[in-house]
Amino acid sequence: MSNELSWVPEGVNMELPSSARIYDYLLGGGHNFEMDRTLADRLLTVVPARDMARLNRAFLGRSVQYLVRQGIRQFLDLGSGVPTVGNVHEVAQALAPESKVVYVDIEPVAVAHSELLLRDNPNAGAIQADLRDPEAILDHPETRRLLDFTQPVALLLVGVLQFIPDADDPWAVVQRYREALPEGSYLAFSAFTWDGNREAMTKAVEVFKNTQEPIHPRTRADILRFAEGFELVEPGLVYTPNWRPETGAVAEEDVRHSNLFAAVGRKV
Ligand SMILES: C[S@@+](CC[C@H](N)C(=O)[O-])C[C@H]1O[C@@H](n2cnc3c(N)ncnc32)[C@H](O)[C@@H]1O
Repeated sequence: MSNELSWVPEGVNMELPSSARIYDYLLGGGHNFEMDRTLADRLLTVVPARDMARLNRAFLGRSVQYLVRQGIRQFLDLGSGVPTVGNVHEVAQALAPESKVVYVDIEPVAVAHSELLLRDNPNAGAIQADLRDPEAILDHPETRRLLDFTQPVALLLVGVLQFIPDADDPWAVVQRYREALPEGSYLAFSAFTWDGNREAMTKAVEVFKNTQEPIHPRTRADILRFAEGFELVEPGLVYTPNWRPETGAVAEEDVRHSNLFAAVGRKV
């Protein structure tokens, strides 16, 4: 068995590239196959995918820090990806060690590596599931063990909603999670948009057709609808680098390259 294949868990789809492994490659990780790298390299010829991934990941980190500062100690991270730098439990537990995190992903490589990383962390766990099945995730023993739904929970849907087609009504899916969240809970999310560069994004859609998860970019108005029933905190729904940047000045190129809108909202 080659070195590369020694970490491949059972049930992994070896037929088509996966968004989890493509994202891992774009962020400089090592849990991806040649087909994922080839696809990512094609993607890089049509969109600034590395910048998109980096800026999205940075938004995730800032939003988790913000949520911890608001007193949130419980995170349900849907579409959590292959663990890489700045994982949610690391960011949250650095500020508040008692923070609890449940990671959920559809992709076996992402889940297997999350489980491995979390072996000695009793405050975090990982589930392999499709986020379109809220009941299975909310009732999962790992969710029940770690999260107390009488206390505020942050629902994270970062860089994942573009994988859910309109036909599966991702807006209704978000609402089903919202109903399970107690008062004081939050939603943090980001999603691919057409609004930055429609031509480039149209080409990206074509490239993603050859993966396990084709993408469905959306207009700002449609992305805003994900936040129904949540009151957005400042600065509202903006391109990822513009969401509460750490330094005052945001590079204009980063904004142009980001191609994902992001926001954090409090359940009302
Ligand atoms: C671009 S990555 C984002 C990872 C992480 N949330 C972040 O922002 O850094 C998207 C992840 O969503 C996962 N995913 C796609 N469709 C999903 C679904 N229906 N249910 C659960 N996870 C899904 C992919 O496997 C991938 O790991």
